[in-house]
Amino acid sequence: MKGIILAGGAGTRLYPSSLSISKILLPIYDKPMIYYPLATLMMADIKDILVITNEADYENFKRVLGDGKRLGMNIQYKIQYVQRGIADAFIIAEDFINGDDVVLILGDNIFYGKNLSQVLKNAKKSNRGATVFGYPVDDPERFGVAEIDDNNRVISLEEKPAHPKSNYAVTGLYFYDNRVCDFAKNLTPSARGELEITDLNKIYLAKGLLDMQILDKSYVWLDTGTHESMLEASKFVHEIEQKTGKKLACVEEIACKEGFIDDSEILKSIEKYNNDYCNYVRKALEKQICSRI
Ligand code: G1P
Repeated sequence: MKGIILAGGAGTRLYPSSLSISKILLPIYDKPMIYYPLATLMMADIKDILVITNEADYENFKRVLGDGKRLGMNIQYKIQYVQRGIADAFIIAEDFINGDDVVLILGDNIFYGKNLSQVLKNAKKSNRGATVFGYPVDDPERFGVAEIDDNNRVISLEEKPAHPKSNYAVTGLYFYDNRVCDFAKNLTPSARGELEITDLNKIYLAKGLLDMQILDKSYVWLDTGTHESMLEASKFVHEIEQKTGKKLACVEEIACKEGFIDDSEILKSIEKYNNDYCNYVRKALEKQICSRI
């Protein structure tokens, strides 16, 4: 299965902070925002990743993540020249996907919770067509919303409805089978001129091939699209890291845990850095906190 991180977008909501750099490269507490979605894909055991960037930040993203080799991964990049919506990712990424199954995560979505790695791996294994994740929120009108029946089956999907039929937001993490590129190519732009991910999910729903897994409130889902939500996310990450002594979205630790690469390779790649983050990586690897799972 391939992975896509959608990191396009002009970041106009963060003006002037995002004038010189994509919001997805701005820090959430102690690491760039993109580490969090990257870590989520890694926890699903995805090693082949395409990062879709805006034109201006293409080189910046490459500088931050490189080709992925130091993590035992293959990371590639493509530009989304025109903001044509989330589902456009499957048109841009068609060659990269190359007939495989694929998981897409939005660059500003942060997931945290117990056994998340297992939840993701199970979703990957059991995916029949499309698998999405629902999360209860107080302001569903800001998101894609899923109406569900008593058995948690999805009845309907709506994008940012004025009168939401439930409080379940559809989060920015989507697993698809290999038909996704063809379905995406047949979408027509919405009123806001975008190929909507909700319209793509509706195709799978109509075919009876959409599953939604509910993440209850024991999980944390953060959509870090505004200054306020970025600050909240930074505070959350700081608090958890202080409390547990473990770093969230430490991609080196996850690469080691998942067995992507030898510990010594990772240590070599951070050799020249002496800071809190890298010292944590060294300790984590030495203490074998990240003993193979
Ligand atoms: C997008 C999707 C929406 C989804 C949300 C999750 O919203 O269109 O369905 O619930 O991401 O973050 P947007 O980022 O376009 O506001």
